[in-house]
Amino acid sequence: MSEPRQILVTSALPYANGSIHLGHMLEYIQTDMWVRFQKLRGNQCIYVCADDAHGSAIMLRAEKEGITPEQLIANVQAEHSSDFADFLVDFDNFHSTHSEENRELSGLIYTRLREAGHIATRSVTQYFDPEKGMFLADRFIKGTCPKCAAEDQYGDNCEKCGATYAPTELKNPKSAISGATPVLRDSQHFFFKLPDFQAMLQQWTRSGTLQEAVANKLAEWLDSGLQEWDISRDAPYFGFEIPGEPGKYFYVWLDAPIGYMASFKNLCARRPELDFDAFWNEGSKAELYHFIGKDIVNFHALFWPAMLEGAGFRKPSAVNVHGYLTVNGAKMSKSRGTFIKARTYLDHLQPEYLRYYYAAKLGRGVDDLDLNLEDFVQKVNSDLVGKVVNIASRCAGFIHKGNEGVMVAGDAAPELTEAFLAAAPSIADAYEGRDFGRAMREIMALADRANAWIADKAPWSLAKQEGKQDEVQAICAQGINLFRQLVIFLKPVLPVLAADAEAFLNVAPLTWNDHLSRLENHQLNPFKALMSRIEPAKVEAMVAASKEDLLAAEAKAPVGNGELAKDPLSAEIEFDTFAAVDLRVALIVKAEAVPGADKLLQLTLDIGDERRNVFSGIKSAYPDPSQLEGRLTMMVANLKPRKMRFGVSEGMVMAAGPGGEEIYLLSPDSGAKPGQRIK
Ligand code: MSP
Ligand code: ZN
Repeated sequence: MSEPRQILVTSALPYANGSIHLGHMLEYIQTDMWVRFQKLRGNQCIYVCADDAHGSAIMLRAEKEGITPEQLIANVQAEHSSDFADFLVDFDNFHSTHSEENRELSGLIYTRLREAGHIATRSVTQYFDPEKGMFLADRFIKGTCPKCAAEDQYGDNCEKCGATYAPTELKNPKSAISGATPVLRDSQHFFFKLPDFQAMLQQWTRSGTLQEAVANKLAEWLDSGLQEWDISRDAPYFGFEIPGEPGKYFYVWLDAPIGYMASFKNLCARRPELDFDAFWNEGSKAELYHFIGKDIVNFHALFWPAMLEGAGFRKPSAVNVHGYLTVNGAKMSKSRGTFIKARTYLDHLQPEYLRYYYAAKLGRGVDDLDLNLEDFVQKVNSDLVGKVVNIASRCAGFIHKGNEGVMVAGDAAPELTEAFLAAAPSIADAYEGRDFGRAMREIMALADRANAWIADKAPWSLAKQEGKQDEVQAICAQGINLFRQLVIFLKPVLPVLAADAEAFLNVAPLTWNDHLSRLENHQLNPFKALMSRIEPAKVEAMVAASKEDLLAAEAKAPVGNGELAKDPLSAEIEFDTFAAVDLRVALIVKAEAVPGADKLLQLTLDIGDERRNVFSGIKSAYPDPSQLEGRLTMMVANLKPRKMRFGVSEGMVMAAGPGGEEIYLLSPDSGAKPGQRIK
């Protein structure tokens, strides 16, 4: 055997301002499977990740929630960590870009780039929000499209006609944060001189580091000439201040990839056998792989290698790019219930079902991958339950009944043993090359052969015949040995199935090379069902719950929609706007759960001269809705009626609190009468 390799692997760092969904999971699951394969092979493979915690989006969201950015990112990190752990994504370290290690490394890389002459400064004119006191990124400016006159379009492109433009071309521009009219203002910015690395990138992108399609795409940029990259943002900004430049911050994408190094450095402090420099210094013998989605290629395959080169660090061995997830043939959709959060999936289904389905459909390319929910049920049930687990469940009983659970010695099917051994190098190559789909097809072809052989031998018939016990035992021992090989081959994809199988087989954790040996004269433990079939009803429930996440969010949304209303802390309104809201005292006449909706209550409200039907996302705080009946509350009575999945909602009740069990319905003092106006 050759020397064990030293490999460092990363997945892109998820933004710390949102939940993980099944699209993200496509990336983390495939990276995890590749890492587990390397570990199974005996290589030293380290898998690090982190939350991407900086930027104005995170700053504004924290402000909206009335918490500090540090609190927000701590909450999100806890949520992300448990989502990943429950999907069996086994990071060696999950850190944060808002960390001391990252501050130091970002400062170091910037300083080295500056000293080497790769940083330029110049004045930039940009829109500035005079009320909020901050420069506005393009997506925080809204206005009328200069081409088609559509209103309410973002600062860089029009969703109606598809035009792209500079924010200064928008007509009637408004700050999406405060509603103020932005003004143009100058400020000094820092630029990374990417063109200094043109020649290096021309060569590096064609040196086997990228998939063909990705290299071709980048060649378009490289051939048309690279631009300097703006790496600074003015205060207020949530990030790292640039050393020696008060009020100037690193743009989030400058320190985000450095977060890979920072996470590894943080791990090195806990794992003394790991040497940071041996992995990152120029000339390192270790391998470095980044797994990313196709939307962030330029950051990883242009800016990042250039930054590393300019600062005297090693460059990635390869950047592995994947396509986007679609569900049932279309972009994930909240209204169809196919925008499925990691946690919503886990509430209904086992993680290994999805891991296997992704593995079966992943290739080396950058094509999008479709999660077809019917095919998902069918494929998992037929391959994992019908083929793999079936072998063990067919054979185990006879060994326990006929031979006290001891597998006899001898090879009852040398041609199958030979075929399984011969397939192993090809399966390993497929894993190594990230062609998980080919690996799964080859493994399932072996499972088919094993099942066909057992069916042909029919130990269940032999068991009923006199004097055939030895033959039954030989067949079943062979069946279990073949099952054990399949478990080894599938272990990177199905770690829990593998652990349960190891317990049944009564063996130490299996490694790849264990496929070269077999169990003989070996005592088994009792057999328990290793995996159950997916019930289609569970998938339907998951889709319904995903629709509901949205309904609950809508039911809670404040009056109107769009950015302005979403930011009540910073958006001032005129008195007239307030006076236009018809607030009434309402008597809750009836309160009931809505069948098929986890979070909604249906309320019948008496407001004096009429009755209103209102759906409200407050069920989590009032599991027994009848307790609300007879109680007074307050409602917005002139909210435009809204058609929801369960009926029309004619207004909104008012409640305080962060959500979950902490929702507090407001009530007037006693004496108030239903229908009275609140002024
Ligand atoms: N924070 C940046 C990455 C910084 S890396 C130094 C980011 N975060 S993200 O949360 O938007 O995305 C994280 C990863 O998930 C990216 O690689 C992205 O391509 C991937 N995906 C996000 N949505 C996806 C799908 N719908 N399908 C497949 N992958 C997707 O980008
Ligand atoms: Zn337009």
